[in-house]
Amino acid sequence: MDNKLIFPEGFWWGSATSGPQSEGSFNKPHESIFDYWYKIEPEAFFDKVGPRITSNFYNSYKEDLAMLKEIGLNSFRTSIQWTRLIKDLETGEPDEDGVRFYNAVIDETISNGIIPVMNLHHFDLPIELYEKYGGWESKHVVKLFVRFAETAFKLFGDRVKYWTTFNEPIVIVEGQYLYEFHYPKVVDGKKAMQVLYNVNLASASVIKRFRELGLQEQGGKIGIILNLTPAYPRSDSDEDIEASRIADAFFNASFLDPAVKGSFPEKLVELLKMDGVLWESTVEEDRVINEGTVDFLGVNYYQPRRVKAKEAGSLDDRGWMPDKYFDNYDMPGKRMNPYRGWEIYPKAMYDIAINIRDNYDNIPWFISENGMGVQGEEKYVNEEGIIEDDYRIEFFKEHLQYLHQGISEGSNCFGYHTWTPIDCWSWTNAYKNRYGFIAVDLKTKNKTIKKSGRWIKEVSENNGFYKLSQDK
Ligand code: BG6
Repeated sequence: MDNKLIFPEGFWWGSATSGPQSEGSFNKPHESIFDYWYKIEPEAFFDKVGPRITSNFYNSYKEDLAMLKEIGLNSFRTSIQWTRLIKDLETGEPDEDGVRFYNAVIDETISNGIIPVMNLHHFDLPIELYEKYGGWESKHVVKLFVRFAETAFKLFGDRVKYWTTFNEPIVIVEGQYLYEFHYPKVVDGKKAMQVLYNVNLASASVIKRFRELGLQEQGGKIGIILNLTPAYPRSDSDEDIEASRIADAFFNASFLDPAVKGSFPEKLVELLKMDGVLWESTVEEDRVINEGTVDFLGVNYYQPRRVKAKEAGSLDDRGWMPDKYFDNYDMPGKRMNPYRGWEIYPKAMYDIAINIRDNYDNIPWFISENGMGVQGEEKYVNEEGIIEDDYRIEFFKEHLQYLHQGISEGSNCFGYHTWTPIDCWSWTNAYKNRYGFIAVDLKTKNKTIKKSGRWIKEVSENNGFYKLSQDK
C-alpha cells in the first residue's frame, strides 16, 4: 500500500506570524495595548521581555523572507499593525514610514515567490482608542477600523490578494473582558458580549468596504482567522452534550456563524436575551453582518475544549459569565504539551474539516495556525548547531494526517500554515516557548534553520509526505 499522503494541487505550505510579535515597535506612530501594558507592568511578561524588539523583522525582513523561501514556504501570513500604518487614527491617514515598510515587505514577499496573506488585527488595538472610547466596546472604534482597512486596501490591494479582518477575535472577548489574560483585564460579561457583537460588526463592515472598493473584481479575497476549539463533552449524557453545545456556541459559532452564514447562532441569542446580557444593535448593523460574509476561512487549531455539565456549587462571584452553562473538564490521561499547558489532540483536525464541510457550506478554508511551543530547545542542538525538533515534525505529521483524511472525504481545505516561521514573541509568554522552523538567538540575533525547517521544505516540494508508520 502506498503510504504517501498527497495534498490538492496548489496547496499552501506556509506559516504565520503577526506584526506585533515579529517586527519590533521601531518607528511606530502609536502604541498598541501591548506596548502600553508592558510599559506599566513589565513583570507580567516572561523574563520581562516586551514587544520592543521581538524578532527584529522591521530591520531584517529581507533576510527573513529569503529564509522562508529557503525552507520552501509558498505562502506567508503576517499582519499590518494599525499602530504602524496609520498616522491619524480618526481619518485613517497613513504614516509615511509605515507605508514604506509594508510596501517593502509585500514586494519582497512576492519577489521570493511567496503569496502574502495580510491580516488587519492581531489583538493590537491602539491604546489611545481604548483610553478615549473604550476600544471595542465602542461602535466609533468600529468605524475607525474600517478607515484603517480602507487605507490598507487602497495602498496594497493591487498586490495583496488574500486579506483577513481579524485573527482570533474571540480572544479579544476572552482575554480583555472575561478571563483577564490581556490588558485591560476587565471582567464584565455584559461588556464582553457587546464587544463580541462589535468585533463581528467590524469584520463585516470591512468586508463590505472591500467589496465596495471593487477589490473582489481585481481578484482579491477576504476572510477571517478563527481559533476553533471543538467542544467535546465528558460523556454522552444529555447534560454533558448540552453543556458542550453551549460552550461551542459561545466560543466557536459566535464568530463562525456570522462570518460564514451572516447571523448569530439562535441558541446563543436566546440565552443572552434570557440573561439580560444581549448586545445593543440596530437593524442596519444586523444587515451589515448579514451581508458581510467571508470568501474564505482561516482556522487556527491548537487544542480542543473538554466540557462537562455545570456542577452544583461551581458558580462563582464574577457576575454573569458564559461559564454559567458549563464547566471545563480536566480529562484524565489527556496528552499534553507541558510547556504551553495545552492538550494535544490531532483528530480535531478531521472533526473541524467535516464540520466545515457539512455545516458551513463547505466554504474554502485553510489551517492558518497549528504548532507546538517548546521551552529550552537549545538542549536539542546537534554538533552542527541544528536544533533537532523531531517532536515538532511528529506533531505536524499527526495533525496533517487527520487533515488529509478530512480533505479526502471532500472538505474544501486549500492550505496548511504553521505557527510560526521564525521564533517570535508570544505575548505574556514572550520568548519562553519557541514555535518556529527557524530559531532566533536573542543575544546575537542569529537565525538558524531547525530540522523541522528542512522537513517542511521537502513536504512543500513533494506536496505531501510519507505517513507515520503507526496511527496515534
Ligand atoms: C495564537 C495566536 O493564539 O497562538 C498567536 O494567533 C499566538 O498570536 C499563538 O502566538 C501561540 O500561542 P502563545 O500564547 O503560545 O503565543
